[in-house]
Amino acid sequence: MCGTVLSQITRAETAINPACRKVLCVGLACLDSIHVVKTFPVEDTDVRCVSMRWQRGGNASNNCTVLSQLGAPCEFLGTLSMKQHLNVIVEDFKTSNICIDNCIYYDTCDAPTSVVIINQSNGSRTIIHSNNNLPELTLDDFKKLDLSQYSWIHFEASFLGRNVQEVVSMIEWVEFWNESHASDNDRGHGLGRKALPISVEIEKPRAEMQDLVPCADVLFVGKDYAEFCGCTSMSETLEKIAEDAKPNATIISAWGEQGAMARGHDKTVVQSPAFSPHKVLDTLGAGDTFCGATIFGLSRGNLLQDCIVLGCQIAGAKVGMDGFAGLD
Ligand code: ADP
Ligand code: FRU
Repeated sequence: MCGTVLSQITRAETAINPACRKVLCVGLACLDSIHVVKTFPVEDTDVRCVSMRWQRGGNASNNCTVLSQLGAPCEFLGTLSMKQHLNVIVEDFKTSNICIDNCIYYDTCDAPTSVVIINQSNGSRTIIHSNNNLPELTLDDFKKLDLSQYSWIHFEASFLGRNVQEVVSMIEWVEFWNESHASDNDRGHGLGRKALPISVEIEKPRAEMQDLVPCADVLFVGKDYAEFCGCTSMSETLEKIAEDAKPNATIISAWGEQGAMARGHDKTVVQSPAFSPHKVLDTLGAGDTFCGATIFGLSRGNLLQDCIVLGCQIAGAKVGMDGFAGLD
């Protein structure tokens, strides 16, 4: 089985200059309809917003926005609807210099959308997300990729509805590929000369997310999932998740104003404070920004401590501004 899989993978490859390899982010792209209000509305009242805008959203899509601004060649992989809003999303990917060459298009399905209320007085974001009928990415879609084009693969698990097992299979496919490919150098994260490190973000409080824990080299564990597992602090989260993670996995957890904490492959724990802006204006995508900036550092072989500090600095800058423009 393994041999067949490997020969299939090798056939599709082309020679890629290592410097041009992209960070691939797999997950959701959606359209965010953002309404900024002075204070959070009372239920069943009729209020006016201060401003309204459309924005390309979704965790993996936002990860790419950050990676691209920091100067990393990157690609988004997910499903896209050709029916509504496609131009807004596609044009914005293009303007942001994010490759979408391998996305899967559906012409009769609706685009996932989020209605977001941002409270100007404290920057809080309330998200009402909907995905009517856009299918999720499948293993067969994923297998069409030429994996030699990438330096890092990140899976954000928030887009998963029914297909956690499909993502586990995609990760297995990458691991098969890794078995016959080695990187030119050791990136220093306990990954040795692994060609294609795999990071996974687990955010939504759902039991099936657990299946992804043993699969990743680098795990980003959101506060909501950590609390769902009964953890009350970042350090407890690192310990608890490590029980089921790969023995040499790096585990990272970010908790809003508390900043972030991480446990390296050698079990050393490092921490970063949050970097608060003058005024918190917009926390939509703070976690995505943290992940994107941290992956940027990790994929370049930087020290774990420096990577989470960078993640918190860039996320701190993001929450002090509307949207994502000008993070670099
Ligand atoms: P999300 O809820 O979007 O997943 P978090 O709230 O966990 O994200 O925040 C991720 C990172 O963003 C934090 O580790 C922190 O560095 C930064 N951050 C979030 N909220 C604030 C804030 N109010 N002030 C400063 N930094 C923040
Ligand atoms: C922010 C975000 C939004 C999107 C929602 C999907 O983290 O990616 O852009 O609407 O989450 O859950």
